[in-house]
Amino acid sequence: MTDTANPSTTADKPFANRVTEMLGVDIPIVQAPMGWIARSQLASAVSNAGAMGIIETSSGELDAIREEIAKMRDLTDKPFGVNIAQAFVRDPSIVDFVVDQGVKFVSTSAGNPMQYTAQLKEAGLTVFHVIPTLRAALKAVDAGVDGLIVEGGEGGGFKNPRDVASMVLLPLVRSKVDVPIIAAGGIVDGPTMAAAFALGAEGVQMGTRMVSAAESPVHENWKQSIVDAAETDTVMLNRHTSPALRALRTERTSALEFDVETNAMTALVGSTLDLYFGGDMEASIALTGQVAGRIDSVEPVADIIASCVSGFRQSIADLGRYV
Ligand SMILES: Cc1cc2nc3c(=O)[nH]c(=O)nc-3n(C[C@H](O)[C@H](O)[C@H](O)COP(=O)(O)O)c2cc1C
Repeated sequence: MTDTANPSTTADKPFANRVTEMLGVDIPIVQAPMGWIARSQLASAVSNAGAMGIIETSSGELDAIREEIAKMRDLTDKPFGVNIAQAFVRDPSIVDFVVDQGVKFVSTSAGNPMQYTAQLKEAGLTVFHVIPTLRAALKAVDAGVDGLIVEGGEGGGFKNPRDVASMVLLPLVRSKVDVPIIAAGGIVDGPTMAAAFALGAEGVQMGTRMVSAAESPVHENWKQSIVDAAETDTVMLNRHTSPALRALRTERTSALEFDVETNAMTALVGSTLDLYFGGDMEASIALTGQVAGRIDSVEPVADIIASCVSGFRQSIADLGRYV
């Protein structure tokens, strides 16, 4: 990576870098795509705060997603993007669907980057692919992606069963590729954002913190469980099969943690919406990252973004004393 690849910062654009340039945002913070959650209520709050709101497609409810994207146009005039979680794609025309929505940024995840990258780029979209290992990063770069979302195993959601923490993965990938990196997994505030930048990222993505946000549509019980959680209160499920996933520790998920006979996905995922919106925390799997242990309150998105920005600057300034 060379600094000359980055646009120069100015007083009104202090974050200017390749990620802000490519995404068209002032603040290089991305709200994670999350099935049923990453919809217009949450994503528009993020975009209006100067960061990047993302609309999910992993729910597979493309008619609802089309309506959510139409709502975004009423709720914000700022950029937003869409995610294609490849393992969950049911409609083979998903790329046409995304291109038709007129967004400029797409993240692809949970699949082979060779599958959609060329088609998305030919349609003029900026493509970042989510990777959990160095090998996957090199493959995505070969596929021609514009950038990588480097996702550490401490993050919530679907995971590589051989999970690698952000502290190891980020600098490793940074040392081997030149494309811009957005760091995901464990990011929650200014200091973690500054740490990600120190390790080579030019942007960050937050999942669990956004689940807990005031504008997140999930039931209060899930938000409160995040607030109450210790850093040890997540489990990695399905290491023995696919897909592995990191979720909040509950009675049912604890029982599945070392159960190599059962696929946790098939056992629990049927009642997802009873948990997400009905608040029954034992009904299904609450995808959640270890960083739940660092979240103490439910806060509006604008406050979360503003405190990340000020905390980031404070961290960088504090570290300046060592120069
Ligand atoms: C509830 C939930 C749902 C998620 N669903 C998706 C998804 O549909 N597509 C995807 O690429 N990542 C998904 N993820 C992973 C996030 O995009 C993100 O990378 C991860 O949450 C970052 O780690 P953090 O939880 O420590 O912030 C999900 C995460 C959570 C917590």
